[in-house]
Amino acid sequence: MKYGYFDDQRKEYVIERPDTPYPWINYLGSEEFFGLISNTGGGYSFYKDASKRRLTRYRYNNVPTDSGGRYYYIYENGNYFSPAWAPQKSELDSYQCRHGLGYTVIESEKNNLKTEMKFFVPKGDNAELHQIKIKNLADSRRKLKLFSFLEFCLYDAEDDMTNFQRNFNTGEVEVDGSTIYHKTEYRERRNHYTFYNVNQEIAGFDTDRESFLGLYNSFAEPQVLEAGKSSNSIAHGWSPIGSHSLEIELEAGEEEEFIFQLGYIENDNDQKWEKPGVINKEKAKKLMTKYNSSAKVEKAFAELKNHWDKLLSSFSIEHPDSKLERMVNTWNQYQNMVTYNLARSASYFESGISRGIGFRDSNQDLLGSAHMIPERVKQRIKDLAATQFEDGSAYHQYQPLTKKGNDKIGSGFNDDPLWLIFAVAAYIKETGDYSILKEEVPFNSGKEAVIFDHLEASFMHVVNNLGPHNLPLIGHADWNDCLNLSAFSEKPGESFQTVSNKDDSPAESVMIAGMFLTTGPDFIQLAKKMNKEKLAAKAEEALAEMKEAVNKYGRDDDWFLRAYDYYSDKVGSKENEYAEIFIEPQGFCIMGGIGLEDGFAEKTLASVNQRLNTDHGLMILDPTIKKYQLNLGEVSSYPPGYKENGAVFCHNNPWIMIAETIVGNGKRAFEYYSKIAPAYREEISELHRTEPYVYSQMIAGKDAATFGEAKNSWLTGTAAWNFVAISQWILGIRPEFEGLKIDPCIPTDWDGFKVQRKFRGTEFEIEIRNFDNVNKGVKKILVDGKEIKGQTLKDFTKEKVKVEVEMG
Ligand code: BGC
Ligand code: NOJ
Repeated sequence: MKYGYFDDQRKEYVIERPDTPYPWINYLGSEEFFGLISNTGGGYSFYKDASKRRLTRYRYNNVPTDSGGRYYYIYENGNYFSPAWAPQKSELDSYQCRHGLGYTVIESEKNNLKTEMKFFVPKGDNAELHQIKIKNLADSRRKLKLFSFLEFCLYDAEDDMTNFQRNFNTGEVEVDGSTIYHKTEYRERRNHYTFYNVNQEIAGFDTDRESFLGLYNSFAEPQVLEAGKSSNSIAHGWSPIGSHSLEIELEAGEEEEFIFQLGYIENDNDQKWEKPGVINKEKAKKLMTKYNSSAKVEKAFAELKNHWDKLLSSFSIEHPDSKLERMVNTWNQYQNMVTYNLARSASYFESGISRGIGFRDSNQDLLGSAHMIPERVKQRIKDLAATQFEDGSAYHQYQPLTKKGNDKIGSGFNDDPLWLIFAVAAYIKETGDYSILKEEVPFNSGKEAVIFDHLEASFMHVVNNLGPHNLPLIGHADWNDCLNLSAFSEKPGESFQTVSNKDDSPAESVMIAGMFLTTGPDFIQLAKKMNKEKLAAKAEEALAEMKEAVNKYGRDDDWFLRAYDYYSDKVGSKENEYAEIFIEPQGFCIMGGIGLEDGFAEKTLASVNQRLNTDHGLMILDPTIKKYQLNLGEVSSYPPGYKENGAVFCHNNPWIMIAETIVGNGKRAFEYYSKIAPAYREEISELHRTEPYVYSQMIAGKDAATFGEAKNSWLTGTAAWNFVAISQWILGIRPEFEGLKIDPCIPTDWDGFKVQRKFRGTEFEIEIRNFDNVNKGVKKILVDGKEIKGQTLKDFTKEKVKVEVEMG
């Protein structure tokens, strides 16, 4: 069952009923000011850091779900309703929510009133605009009132939810005309405040939550709405809110428009006050004026649209399959930008307080955004590298406000270093900009270094940390955070991520070996580029040795082993009671070139197909683990079929898609792609539950009671990796150091497709024809009518180039 549809022209997902199977959200903002907004106006806003600078309050795991947000109520003759459905939930005569790129529009009709609310963050400013239009569809004149409501957060999101003995005393506001200023702690150590304004005269306001709602009322039945009148309350401690009321008179057919603005302001210490106790409002007023008319707001909105059109113009396809088009052209790339911006901090599954920017996560996210924002990607790479230690290991996370490594979680995840090589290689392959290798970025210790030194340290970290089988030591964990082979946790509540009681563990990871072999050749090319021939030769040797170790100790009969545990027993082997096969090493060892000569790669992929494939994608392991296993850790803490214990982990399905393209099986690669790509799952939204326009981290696996149900939408490395799999390996438009390689691997029944790709300053219009209906193979490439040698486009001197590709 569907709850809406894709409007491909406008690049929007249009939700047609408010009671979606889970709140379906969107993100506003892509610079410093961000908002999460659900299809009924729920969610919250923050500046830069969802943990330390949260501007409005949101209660996770609330009842009913998704209560709290930017709420508007329309009042008429003793009755009121919410035009976005929430929170009041009266049935609407019509409802539509359009989630677009960086904006959301909620439109509805009720009682012969048409309301349209557009929410977005204008480029370049720290504000969220709510443009609200109300139209009288009746044939007589009407008197209405519009009430606004949002709850301020006292900035530190975790403290806000826990430290009530203090926080119920600190809240302070100012009201000036139509603007409510939230200035808690501004009198002491903060130099920032939030304002909530409307561009018209107001009839009243409220800033104290209990005065607005009534102590025992919910958002659905505010006492102010019951009374039809604001109480003009001023918050002293307790819970500061912002609410305006406006009196509206509409003739028959008349429409009025209101612009609400939620803004964030910082003042220098000596500029904080206008006079004692009164905050300096100069910057706030400037910002309000900037967006105080419909024309100004429309202009800002047009700029936002242009911005997104430009971002998405680096890669687009024309293909008979509209689901594929909407994934590739719009939604997958959009999600890549959101993961770039937010890492894993704030979604409806990530509370915004528990995680900083992950080293592994962010490096992977870059793989999906390097083609859109190369400059920002370069900066992110430098920020990440700066948290690396001299021995190549890295802080597992850093905080975006301070850019400092997070001591609480520390380091010791032995896959981390290699992801930096993946990211830097991807950046250079995209841009051809080798200068990044010489950019000066010191190690965390302060020791001076250039980026290439970081890559060398990363590479050597693996070489210097090998276990008894000459395979990489896993350390705390590798990509699979829940495979904790080097710490045994027996205490309830202990974080699996930080327990450390087997630090001498010889546990080894075949997955890291596969990653090493996948990214090693890139490292060698870069070493040569730096004229480090000796190092390159040493690295070649290390790769050969690793290959030998994997061939000797990394294979089970029909697939690659996952690891060796603390006791040097096999993990992910037929010998095991549970989890005989894990997905991760199968993808990476084949990407790393193992088993291509002797048919083991094909055999492995057949095993994956047989053991892990389901109607809802490839499971991460099989059979699921039925009992807690001290030697395996968190993976066995999940009930069978969920998360790392046998869900379809959408993040690593693309590794198998890529492996399938390497052995030339386009049919299987695309089958796996379309099983998990959300647009293909739109028809089963009641089962899938999360948004049909973005990937979720996981879909419950076959052993779960809720097989096919997705969770953890939006902030997942799934987005970047699926984009890599579809764009570079299935459609086969692949950036390499030398240029843009054309190497599709598709189902044989595809007759062809077109790609528009901006690459190193040239716009390539690529037409791929598959007259012979093959899986893979390129017979001929014409560039502006002239045949070229090989499959790689290397000339970037022209602005626009036509490329004709004949497969066969
Ligand atoms: C989750 C993992 C995640 C880890 C670190 C675990 O509870 O299952 O998916 O990587 O936490 O945040
Ligand atoms: C989610 C984490 O963000 C990511 O870093 C990890 O690789 C996966 N879960 C798998 O455990």
